[in-house]
Amino acid sequence: MMKRRQVLAGASAAAVVAAGGYALLGGPDYEAVAAATWQPADPAAPEIGRLVHYATLAANSHNTQPWIFEAGSGPIRILPDTTRRTPVADPDDHHLFATLGCAAENLMLAAGAEGKASALSFGADGAIAVDLAPGGAEDPLFAAITARQCSRSLYDGSTVSAADLSLLERAAQVDGCRVLLVTEPAEVAAILDLILAANAVQIADPAFVAELGDWLRFSAAAAVDTGDGLFSACSGNPTMPQWIGQRMFPRVFTPEAENEKTAAQVRSSAGLAIFVSDRDDAEHWVAAGRSYQRFALQATALDLKTAFLNQPLEVPEYRPQLAGLLGVTDRRPDLLVRFGRGPAMPRSLRRPVADVMRMV
Ligand SMILES: Cc1cc2nc3c(=O)[nH]c(=O)nc-3n(C[C@H](O)[C@H](O)[C@H](O)COP(=O)(O)O)c2cc1C
Repeated sequence: MMKRRQVLAGASAAAVVAAGGYALLGGPDYEAVAAATWQPADPAAPEIGRLVHYATLAANSHNTQPWIFEAGSGPIRILPDTTRRTPVADPDDHHLFATLGCAAENLMLAAGAEGKASALSFGADGAIAVDLAPGGAEDPLFAAITARQCSRSLYDGSTVSAADLSLLERAAQVDGCRVLLVTEPAEVAAILDLILAANAVQIADPAFVAELGDWLRFSAAAAVDTGDGLFSACSGNPTMPQWIGQRMFPRVFTPEAENEKTAAQVRSSAGLAIFVSDRDDAEHWVAAGRSYQRFALQATALDLKTAFLNQPLEVPEYRPQLAGLLGVTDRRPDLLVRFGRGPAMPRSLRRPVADVMRMV
């Protein structure tokens, strides 16, 4: 666990103190820690530290941050941190590898901003290798890295223009994966039915609820202490002491309450994006993560919000039904996201760069 003194020892400590918001004696000021987390990289930090800083700001399942960045004389390697698996929600590590893809995409965009070209390969050992060479250029998506978030808020119901939809589609282009955009109300409603049905199955499973509960941070203090997990306020839920939240959560987390909220969220959205990779293996799950990350960054640049609704992909019996609705019965749809315009939510936290790096 990352204790408070380690937060201060991290690369962002100066920014926290400069923001004047970290109450050293009175406990953590969540806003200040979050603001420091989402700062651009410190230009005085070594290049590898700057790249990893941006990589860690990627979307990641349950905010588990299941990554290790290994750097030395060769390529930068992104390895799965298997101590941070979520075996109930993600038994085959699909989301874990998609998460590594999100991080790899941010890392490569950051490399471009440093004038480096990057090439990604996926190794038989499950590690992603990113080779850097002189000659890259800054992609406009880079500027959105520090502003992106998963916004689990109600959106405003407005539609997105055809021109912006095609910008989103183009940004999401990654070899080995395609994105399908669904904006027709009847088609959205059919997918919503699957989301709600799968949600009910997951919430009825005590193992799923217990695993999710382990990654929930009900108080700012608990979130700052670990620098990971899902802080209640980020999802629009009330905060409370961690021990009270952990006791209450299984009682208040019901299919009825969650489905009512989820249905309203989907109906408030401009549409759904489904990321479908060419093959059902770890290399292609990485491609799906990269594609989502690029989509989300382009959305951020257009002042659009995104949030995941992966339930029908996580409950195996619903996957073929979703694939059927989308007309891709020979594929495993990877990720399901809603998008639209809506308010930002409090930012999520990350562990310090030093905690996720290994020099070899
Ligand atoms: C592969 C993957 C699966 C995810 N699944 C869900 C999900 O089913 N529901 C959800 O609310 N968020 C989901 N998320 C979003 C993460 O919870 C979120 O990225 C993380 O909490 C960090 O927050 P941020 O993206 O706002 O920085 C997923 C993210 C990834 C990369």
